[in-house]
Amino acid sequence: MNSNQNLPVHVGVIMDGNGRWAKKRSLPRTAGHREGAKVVEKLAQTCLNAGVRYLTLFCFSSQNWDRPKEEVDTLFSMLNEYLHKESKPFRNKGINFSFLGRIDLLPDETQQMIETLKKENLPKEQEKMHLILALSYGGREEIADAAKRLARQIQKGEITPDQIDEKIFSSALYLPDIPDPDLIIRTSGEKRISNFLLWQSAYAEFVFLDTLWPDCSEKDFYAALDEFAARHRRFGKV
Ligand code: IPE
Ligand code: IPE
Ligand code: MG
Repeated sequence: MNSNQNLPVHVGVIMDGNGRWAKKRSLPRTAGHREGAKVVEKLAQTCLNAGVRYLTLFCFSSQNWDRPKEEVDTLFSMLNEYLHKESKPFRNKGINFSFLGRIDLLPDETQQMIETLKKENLPKEQEKMHLILALSYGGREEIADAAKRLARQIQKGEITPDQIDEKIFSSALYLPDIPDPDLIIRTSGEKRISNFLLWQSAYAEFVFLDTLWPDCSEKDFYAALDEFAARHRRFGKV
């Protein structure tokens, strides 16, 4: 079990392997996504039990729009259904929601759901965990959007180019109040970041699990937390 002092405050998860899970069973890829959705609750509960404060899930990348339309449509209808059914149980556990990415590109129904969920967030003092869903998210896109925002501020005379430093740049990102991830987990054996939290992951620890996302269990998540706890972070110091 994880000792509290080496617990990550913020965990990011690249939930990968749904398609391969389905393929192994000769099922359509969407069956893998459906099975994968069930694992989200297990992960959230594990993080909640362990005392993780922020959990970011990579649900849909900017590049995932290039998948077949049928898969994309099914993913969003599943997401709508999931949020509709599962947001209350999450809320009852003290979980608040934020959303990361180009939300304006999402289907109308999803955007409406997101607005409602954000309004229903509990006051900070009642929040046990913050769940951040990355949707239509790309790290490069986020950095480009931040640059655009800062350029506009310069144009309006609100800041000067010389004032731009890491702190100001961070404040122009999508969710400036969320701390950087301490631990990023990727499942399915792939060892790449695939455009997830590029700016924020500068000093994150990475744990790569071979398990396909739909097969992941509490045991896998605790193993990742334990691996994190055993790491020695130096942040460039000695
Ligand atoms: C992750 O599983 C879910 C999304 C990207 C939406 P994949 O769909 O990428 O599964 P694989 O990588 O093809 O197995
Ligand atoms: C990353 O997985 C995106 C999500 C998990 C939502 P992908 O399956 O899209 O990434 P690549 O294509 O293997 O790099
Ligand atoms: Mg994949």
